[in-house]
Amino acid sequence: MKSISDVKNLANKNVLVRVDFNTPLDKGRIVSDYKLVRSLSTIEFLLNAGATVILISHLGRPKGKEKKLSLRPVAERLSKLMQKKIGFYNISTQADWTKLRNDLPVLKVGTLIMLENIRFLKGEEKEDPALSKKLAGLCDLFVLDGFGVAHRRAASVTGVASYVPSYAGLLLFEEVNILGKVMKSPKRPLVFLLGGAKAETKIPVLKKILSVADHILISGGIFNTYLAAKGKKIGSSIEAPDFENEVLKYCQNKKVIMPIDVVVGAKDGKEARPVAIEKLIIGNKEAIYDVGPETVRMFAGFIKNAQTLIWNGAMGKFEQHPYQYGTFALVRLFAARARGRAFGVCGGGETVEILERLHLMPEIDLVSTGGGAMLDFLSGVKLPGLEALK
Ligand code: 3PG
Repeated sequence: MKSISDVKNLANKNVLVRVDFNTPLDKGRIVSDYKLVRSLSTIEFLLNAGATVILISHLGRPKGKEKKLSLRPVAERLSKLMQKKIGFYNISTQADWTKLRNDLPVLKVGTLIMLENIRFLKGEEKEDPALSKKLAGLCDLFVLDGFGVAHRRAASVTGVASYVPSYAGLLLFEEVNILGKVMKSPKRPLVFLLGGAKAETKIPVLKKILSVADHILISGGIFNTYLAAKGKKIGSSIEAPDFENEVLKYCQNKKVIMPIDVVVGAKDGKEARPVAIEKLIIGNKEAIYDVGPETVRMFAGFIKNAQTLIWNGAMGKFEQHPYQYGTFALVRLFAARARGRAFGVCGGGETVEILERLHLMPEIDLVSTGGGAMLDFLSGVKLPGLEALK
């Protein structure tokens, strides 16, 4: 991958930057601006070099144009963060494109503009060559900086890279380098905490990291699936019936460390109580919602000895009190060990949310901006966005 930092003479160039500003929203309010903050280094580098920067991102998964998924509030937040004006462009009609193309040559050096949610355009997710070419027609250079979208094929991620010289942005470069190093030559023991509700998305990760990690502490959907495969009555706990055999196979590996107790209760947090695994029988109205205190103590032993720590996925349903304790306790232990005693990496939407809630962001060596992209990368899948830059 070629980094944009190696390119000379960026002055007066139009640079199209695909960022990942898919930020979590709550009733139109930006919940976390972490992805925006992490993108600043690339944007500022380009502006300081005298380029005109055109930012592209998606937000959510719109079906056509959806007002509530407009990137305008994101542009406003970025403008505040940078204390700089941002020109915002809708590009839905031919007239919009013409206006943008006519404006570009007369913009002042160092101008920053942002396009409306690129997923409002039909061709984006189909990686439509016509849209890819149109985007390429706006710029001299293309930069992919959104690590979080590097696992997607799309006109603004992979398509455009076929038509103009393309480079990795500083954020993308940093994340790929760090994650690559961690997987290739980690300091040992490497302890991986793998939680999250959806077992099906975590199984490929489990398979891959079995050959890299020393210990894998599992919880959530994968563990529930294991219990179900073993014939335990797990009530309405989330599991993946189609993957039971696979989970059984991987969980036989001694590296996989499983909870010894869990917190069981009702969806709304009522009747929550710890139950040892050997005594586990749950009725249909209840489910497993967290790891139990004995598990936290046992997992803590592994975290304390780790030299490399990777975490993905909450250990339980942390959004609902009192099911947050297992996740919060383990994340605190993780953060206490990272940045010094161990190298700590985490990623994924809810990861950032938990770390921000606990004010632990600065305690982690790398909080990846990628969710699915980080998991694919750690699973050894070639990310189309990175391949397109080669
Ligand atoms: C993310 O938030 O993980 C990325 O922005 C990718 O979003 P997507 O899963 O909707 O493609």
